[in-house]
Amino acid sequence: MSITISPVTVDFAAEIGDVNLSQRLEAADFEAIQHAFWKYAVLIFPEQNLTLDQHLAFSQLFGPAETERTLDPTATPSRFTGAFADISNLAADGKIWGENSRQRMYKAGNKLWHTDSSFKFLPALCSLLYGRTVAPVGGHTEFADQRAAYAALPEATKQKLHGLVAEHCIAYSRRRSGFAEFTEEEQRRLPPVPQMLVRTLPQNGRKSLYVASHAGKIFGMTDAESRDLIDELIVHVTQRQFVYRHRWRPNELVMWDNRCTMHRGTDYDDLRWVRDMRRVTISDVANSCEQESVPLPPEALARRSAQRVA
Ligand code: OGA
Ligand code: MN
Repeated sequence: MSITISPVTVDFAAEIGDVNLSQRLEAADFEAIQHAFWKYAVLIFPEQNLTLDQHLAFSQLFGPAETERTLDPTATPSRFTGAFADISNLAADGKIWGENSRQRMYKAGNKLWHTDSSFKFLPALCSLLYGRTVAPVGGHTEFADQRAAYAALPEATKQKLHGLVAEHCIAYSRRRSGFAEFTEEEQRRLPPVPQMLVRTLPQNGRKSLYVASHAGKIFGMTDAESRDLIDELIVHVTQRQFVYRHRWRPNELVMWDNRCTMHRGTDYDDLRWVRDMRRVTISDVANSCEQESVPLPPEALARRSAQRVA
């Protein structure tokens, strides 16, 4: 039996049924999933029962998994290593985290609108988040469609944004969410990186905005102008008509295209309820400037050469 695609919104989120992700997929089923993914950008797979290995195996069908974690595991131990980001509220010992734990302070940043790994030079193509145990109240995830938001911009704004390059850094978003202390080692690994403000999706030719709370500056603009434009664009993208709110059911896997969506976690009583979520993140094929054949701004290029030498 082939997979079932059930749209949740017209062209942004869809549920996929009649598929068992714990097993090797038929080529035709994987193709149908890929096809749906390029159309919708958010896919929901209900009632999946996945081990870590099965979750990783399905994810890797889309490309190589990121293995470098943002927080240094020696400063902040986690339940998982390697390809898994722990998106739960559980400490390394499997118990609900402490009120002032470093993990909790850091992950508060997930409540800001963002896209995963835009702060890495090689950003993410997609993320696959698997919810084992979900909070009974709250703890939803909202997704915003940056393709539809781009299409809705006035022509003059599209012209103004053409070719602009932004600088993304995890320190920008974490400063905003109240987490200021990266270790020296983390800072060294996580310098600001350039990314296009508008990008084109090779699979369907659609253009998309590419903004996130990690974006702090735009090359060629003052800090104040940059801040105003980024904030204005995030407000535009996150208008209700571009947003789908996902209410989790246990054992559901949700995947999203980080190139053309933003997402954020909504509040829940994280000191009371267990919310056990784990994520695999798949790398994109190249930096977004490289993909658009836009030369890196000299400042970004200089920083990159300095890092290579170091
Ligand atoms: C993520 C993320 C938000 C949430 O997994 O990348 O930002 O609702 N999650 O947990
Ligand atoms: Mn995220």
